[in-house]
Amino acid sequence: MTARRVSRIGIVGAGQLGRMLALAGYPLGLRCCFLDRSADSPGAQVAPSLIGELEDGALLEELAARSDVLTFDWENISGAALAPLARLTTIRPPAAALTVSQDRLHEKALFKRLRIPVAAHAAVDTRGQLLRAVQRLGLPGVLKTRRMGYDGKGQFTLADRAAIDAAWSALGGQALIYEKFQAFSRELSMVGARSPGGETVFYPLSDNRHRDGILRHSLAPYADARLERSARRHLKRVLEALDYVGVLAIEFFVVGRRLVANEMAPRVHNSGHWTIEGCVTSQFENHLRAICGLPLGSTRALGHAAMINFIGEMPDRARLLGVEGLAYHDYGKQPRAGRKLGHCTIVRKRAADRNRAFSDTLEMMGRTD
Ligand SMILES: Nc1ncnc2c1ncn2[C@@H]1O[C@H](COP(=O)(O)OP(=O)(O)O)[C@@H](O)[C@H]1O
Ligand SMILES: [Mg+2]
Repeated sequence: MTARRVSRIGIVGAGQLGRMLALAGYPLGLRCCFLDRSADSPGAQVAPSLIGELEDGALLEELAARSDVLTFDWENISGAALAPLARLTTIRPPAAALTVSQDRLHEKALFKRLRIPVAAHAAVDTRGQLLRAVQRLGLPGVLKTRRMGYDGKGQFTLADRAAIDAAWSALGGQALIYEKFQAFSRELSMVGARSPGGETVFYPLSDNRHRDGILRHSLAPYADARLERSARRHLKRVLEALDYVGVLAIEFFVVGRRLVANEMAPRVHNSGHWTIEGCVTSQFENHLRAICGLPLGSTRALGHAAMINFIGEMPDRARLLGVEGLAYHDYGKQPRAGRKLGHCTIVRKRAADRNRAFSDTLEMMGRTD
């Protein structure tokens, strides 16, 4: 007799992450169903979707009742909306992992408890607290909303004291955090997965370039054995502390010779998109394997990868497809300034060839990054 086969996955939110999860599920015989506000979401274009608010209790219950396991494209769902679903289905990653990562202050407290270095920071709820935080931690610094920020939204960089008023009028009135600005040499991230039985796997480090808070491109694997060991140790601690199941990513700053954790994402991550073509098993497949209790797949890199995000506008598809081996991903979204609409990935056996193909492709797109 074989164990019951988990095959129905409910996904809260149907953005590009959900879409790529659903696409990765088909070959494994996994059927995804989404809940999303839009009937034409990236996910709904490739799998069935319930339409409505992401925290609509009745719809969430319907999704849970239809699913063997419930997971997330959108991790900001409230604990209160999740609680009633636990008796209907299995929730993976665990609700506690979602709640901690929804608040930058709680996330940093977890990192600190696990002895993972973080930027010096302070909670800011009032203008007076902002003044005291700037006084104590110094300038420059970054003021951020504790909740709901993404792609650099809800952030204000303070270069000098004159910026305090502008920062406060932009963000004041909500729970904030002030962080000391990190003079980093690079931003790296690591994606890993943990199974219900506690097995863990880790992808190679990814070297990420952001502009205006948005990821422009990633180059991977970033080969630095010492930083790699350090990132794995940090990620493993977080996975174990949360009794985590699924894929989780941590973004790091490289400051001097050490890693400083910036934030984590309890889900598949943009900096892991290169794993679709660049690794034996993609982050999307490994998330599904983990939440279904299937054996995790190899995270070995197949070569040197470059992943370029399409932001605000789509490139000339026919032109890009002329690049040998380029994998093109269109998320099916309406173009809007600053919006991630798709990405492409190039994998080469040798780093020098990857670098050449990467810069040729950027040039083709009229970008300098
Ligand atoms: N304390 C900081 N010091 C220097 N740069 C920062 C700091 N915080 C954020 N940034 C820059 O802004 C980007 C987005 O910030 P992040 O905290 O990751 O928020 P988001 O949730 O929008 O990704 C980072 O990848 C980094 O480039
Ligand atoms: Mg980030």
